[in-house]
Amino acid sequence: MNSLLSRRYTEKVRIIVHGGAGNIPKNNTGLYSVGVKKAAEVGLDVLVSGGSALDAVETAVVYMENDPIFDAGKGSVLNKDGFVEMDAIIVDGADLGMGSIAGVRRVRNPVKLARIIMEKTDNNMFIGNSADNLAKQFGLRLESLSYFVTDRRREEWEDMKEGKLDPMRRSMYSTVGAVALDSKGNVVAATSTGGIPFKMPGRVGDTPLIGCGAYADNELGAASATGLGETIMKIVLSKTALGYIKLEGDPMRAAVRAIKLMESKVGGRAGLIIIDPKGNVGIAYNAPKMAFAFNEGNKIVYGTEIP
Ligand code: GLY
Repeated sequence: MNSLLSRRYTEKVRIIVHGGAGNIPKNNTGLYSVGVKKAAEVGLDVLVSGGSALDAVETAVVYMENDPIFDAGKGSVLNKDGFVEMDAIIVDGADLGMGSIAGVRRVRNPVKLARIIMEKTDNNMFIGNSADNLAKQFGLRLESLSYFVTDRRREEWEDMKEGKLDPMRRSMYSTVGAVALDSKGNVVAATSTGGIPFKMPGRVGDTPLIGCGAYADNELGAASATGLGETIMKIVLSKTALGYIKLEGDPMRAAVRAIKLMESKVGGRAGLIIIDPKGNVGIAYNAPKMAFAFNEGNKIVYGTEIP
């Protein structure tokens, strides 16, 4: 169990991002670290120039969706049939607005579509082809199916198909997410993923489910999760962690308690980033590593292991 238990920060604006939890292969550790650092930087730029938490988390998540090292957007893992199916969510703590999508195949930046659903439709969640069509209708960029498939993911998929690589033992859940507090005191959370490798077509994990993959409420804080969706969703991990902040008096302890609860009740590997309404940071995971970054003033603290 890892957490930032000994450190407490209070900032006027804050962004925390994650790039997944699991067995980060040694030769890729640097790429994950650089990716989350840059994502936090672009999100922080938005906040320090007076931008909203909504714009900050969208910017950070879009950055990671476009970075092929992560399991979101380009670089997403492939399902059993060799295709990418992506899920995403955004939650606005100011009014509990939410937008989410499951099983999209063509929208370049799923988090942008989640935000459009939140802001421009009367609904909360869309799935599959209809969601991709909605993206087109709102002028979002669609890509060919092959745009999302990287050589690395194709090779992994071939190894899984031939039985050389066990998808569960592979277990690097490099879902991406961000939470932010802006200068007006609003908190927002967003999460985006290609799901788990070699999943059954149509399988949906925790990411697009409200309270599981993400949650935000200005009175509670904001949270984004990564890890095995089948266990995360059973304990509604993001909302559960935020509910613990008052009990524990600290988001770091709250994040640890929520991960421990999941582990003891249903097992599974996961990671969490949470922020309280004052901008205090909570990071915890029960996987070997988790890629994370957050600002401390203008400085970005980042890594794949909590010291
Ligand atoms: N946490 C991502 C998934 O299980 O799909």
